[in-house]
Amino acid sequence: MVSDPRTEASRRRTFAIISHPDAGKTTLTEKFLLYGGALGKEAGSVKAREGRRSATSDWMDLEQQRGISITSTVLQFTYGDCVINLLDTPGHRDFSEDTYRVLAAADAAVMVLDAAKGIEPQTLKLFEVCREREIPFLTFINKWDRPGKAPLELLDEIEETLVVEPTPLTWPVGIPGDFRGVIHRGTGVYTRFERTARGSTIAPEEEVDAERAAIDDGEWWSAAVEEVDLLDGVGRVVDPKTFLAGESTPVFFGSALTNFGVRFLLDGVVDLVPSPAPRQLADGSRRALDAPFSGLVFKVQAGMDKAHRDRIAFVRVCSGRFERGITAIAERSGRQFSTKYAQTMFGQDRDTADEAYPGDVLGLVNANDLRVGDAVYVGEPASFPPLPAFAPEHFMRARVTDTSKFKQFRKGVAQLDEEGAIQVLRDEDLGDQAPVLAAVGPMQFEVATYRLENEFGAPVELSATPYTIARRTDDQSAAKLNAMQGVSVLSRADGTLLALFESKYWMDRVLRDHPELTLERMIAEGGLN
Ligand code: G4P
Repeated sequence: MVSDPRTEASRRRTFAIISHPDAGKTTLTEKFLLYGGALGKEAGSVKAREGRRSATSDWMDLEQQRGISITSTVLQFTYGDCVINLLDTPGHRDFSEDTYRVLAAADAAVMVLDAAKGIEPQTLKLFEVCREREIPFLTFINKWDRPGKAPLELLDEIEETLVVEPTPLTWPVGIPGDFRGVIHRGTGVYTRFERTARGSTIAPEEEVDAERAAIDDGEWWSAAVEEVDLLDGVGRVVDPKTFLAGESTPVFFGSALTNFGVRFLLDGVVDLVPSPAPRQLADGSRRALDAPFSGLVFKVQAGMDKAHRDRIAFVRVCSGRFERGITAIAERSGRQFSTKYAQTMFGQDRDTADEAYPGDVLGLVNANDLRVGDAVYVGEPASFPPLPAFAPEHFMRARVTDTSKFKQFRKGVAQLDEEGAIQVLRDEDLGDQAPVLAAVGPMQFEVATYRLENEFGAPVELSATPYTIARRTDDQSAAKLNAMQGVSVLSRADGTLLALFESKYWMDRVLRDHPELTLERMIAEGGLN
């Protein structure tokens, strides 16, 4: 039976998890799957999948060596009546441009904090990307099973550092290290959890009345009740309106490891995360959910499967019903392409996607015309507002070390550029021989050189450049800038011109002396570092 896209959209919850590495994102993801019934009865398969990663994708070895996550994956599972689409984001700040793109495909985010560490540098950076994107977010304070900061202290930290009002929906009973359960502030019910071996099965829950809680949990119970009263007194309650505006964040306490509080967080996602809404188009209008199929390309990734060397465009469905085999149009080229090989992604595993609805994510295999930010559609053309480019702050010149591999080098560099893995800048004199690679964070260079060597067979050497800051410019200004000392104008494949300066001081001086020049700032410069 064919369902109505609006009804299906109302069942969807599409969100991303952001966190500082090690705060527990992988563990929490695994527990979501456990509670969604997608892991069978036992947790542990996400880790098992991780183990398989190295077999399927060579450059992901780098992730393992460095213990970071660079690639992001998409998971879909059902929870009650809802279809949950969970988008993973790269955990490292150097990849915040990628995070931004993933957030463009999400309707909300869950920020995971380690109870002992609170807000860490990369949480802050990723949170700022969330704010830039104006996306509502829930907060999960994780690792409550071991010693950490006091809950009120963590709330203060959120409020002061992020300038967002924390509104706890659950409140912990017991101290960090001896975590008993949570009071749900919506229902007033106290739920106690029981540990299971290694948290591999759902934590048994028991609702405990106040009388018994006072006997069993003594002073911890009374302390929690007092704190809840205090929060009630100052009106710290979940407010959907300020949450959707990104001004407040519902807070949940728990432990992903022992599963304590995970169900409440998942219920919170269902209740609070908005279902997909009609998507805004470049002309300011919105495409109705039941309009013909349209989708936004938010990520392009090659080399995910070593055996196939294919290239996948990740598409968030924005309107209509997608059916495998339909012929869609790629906005950029205006060309039709077949969707015979559409896939759903489950981490590194793939399945054929027969149908999809707004909020779902499709992997389109070998759709070579697609770039990040593009629309794909059926019927009435769609075009989405452009995704902003982040300001690069690190610039290195790349040369192939074995000149017989120049063809591979050129192909690899073009591929990385198209994926948006790194920005590639060319100057007229050196052309393709020695492009400048421009990155938001230095780890992008590591990924780029690793991939050029391992995926494309083109070992490269990077050399430092004098540049430290970039501004977008135009043809007219480029001629004048190129004639100056300490400035170079380089071009991107899409024709964008970037003026690179050796120092901010020098740039400010040029700006002051030549106010007629076009030198535009790009997103995320300075403030996000
Ligand atoms: P990440 O994806 O955000 O980087 O974090 P990940 O889930 O990999 O968790 C990082 C470490 O923190 C892991 O320990 C994990 O077991 C632990 N952890 C996650 N959630 C909790 C929690 O609620 N309580 C406690 N006590 N620990 C938690 P590890 O030793 O690095 O790995 P492993 O050997 O346990 O797999």
